[in-house]
Amino acid sequence: MIESISNATIADVVRQTLEQFRPNHGFTFRSPAITVTGEYCVSQLGDALQELGAQHVMLVTDRNIHQLGLVSGCESAITLAGIELTLFADVNGEPDSKLVRQGYATLQQCQADFILGVGGGSALDCAKAIAVIGDHYGPLSELKVGGVCSRRVGLGAIPTTAGTGSEATDITVIFDQTQKIKVPIKGPALVPDLALLDPTLMSGVPAAITAATGLDALTHAVESYVSIQSNPLSRAYAYHAMQSIFHTLPKVVGYGQDLALRGQMAVASFKAGLAFSNSGLGLTHAIAHQIGARYHLAHGVANAILLPYVMQFNALCCQHEYAHIATALGVSRDAMTERERCQAAIDAIKQLADDLGLPNQLASVGVTVQDLPLLAEQAMQDICLQGNPRQVEQAQIEQLIRQAIGGTHGT
Ligand SMILES: [Fe+2]
Repeated sequence: MIESISNATIADVVRQTLEQFRPNHGFTFRSPAITVTGEYCVSQLGDALQELGAQHVMLVTDRNIHQLGLVSGCESAITLAGIELTLFADVNGEPDSKLVRQGYATLQQCQADFILGVGGGSALDCAKAIAVIGDHYGPLSELKVGGVCSRRVGLGAIPTTAGTGSEATDITVIFDQTQKIKVPIKGPALVPDLALLDPTLMSGVPAAITAATGLDALTHAVESYVSIQSNPLSRAYAYHAMQSIFHTLPKVVGYGQDLALRGQMAVASFKAGLAFSNSGLGLTHAIAHQIGARYHLAHGVANAILLPYVMQFNALCCQHEYAHIATALGVSRDAMTERERCQAAIDAIKQLADDLGLPNQLASVGVTVQDLPLLAEQAMQDICLQGNPRQVEQAQIEQLIRQAIGGTHGT
């Protein structure tokens, strides 16, 4: 009898037994081991790298960022700490699988033990992908199946914009040349060991980019706060991120040279990144990814247009949470009902995007009704939809995008 039980059956019984002992309402929260913040904190980069045991750093950055001299402080800090340095400054726009392979070839050649991304979302995404790609030569979509859990080198991220939160998150997005699609790769190994937030690297970012990336960070916080996969820690970070971004972003867009404000935005964006990395996102991002890919629309702009529409749609399921958001934004009043607070939060976010000069309808950025079925179909497949608090059907997404094209608000 005993011989007839296969190993697969035993493994299945063990798995089912362990499932029964999984704690209810428990959660796992991941964040960088070291976070360094403050004006001119690039000077502390060498100490942080030594603490992490780095002996040879491969610095991955944007061509433009390098030409602007924004990386020179990092290079000096690394070499002054006696750490060997190899520069890979070939990122130019959104990273694709070919560039990641080139980066990995450089890594094999130089034998660095630490990858450091410096730049906007593209440079950080590229650095993260190089750190985990290893000897994988199949389609990138294979990597997302079980999540990327291991890497053989250390990983650090220094953002030069406040928005993507990539320095805190477990995700990278790479354009796969084989499949001709953007592939999100996700897993614990993508959370950097080191995040360094120096506002002096952000003071030259133009107002329009500051506004769009800031709205992206706000969208991370809002979607994370109401995500069905949220937990007490992610909600705490999301709440404080919303509070800070709502009050700081208009001032930073108006006066970008203020390093204290830039520092606040950098930390708020980091908090929003920590929040959504540990909770997932929602329908705004699920649609924004499709519109961004098809119309080459800046990610933050797509989010800014879509967020009020999605909030209105989701209000059916999260009026209570949106009322909290109204409190975080400072637009809640004692005399208001919960429903009124909920609406006040939606109106305040729409007003913020308008005040920052961001477009408020998809028609103005070239989105047409002909593409509705395709966009909705693709949005239904997006990984971000898993966190959305309201179940959604393709026809509802089509209706929502139709409203956003025309700039008409409904429920
Ligand atoms: Fe985003």
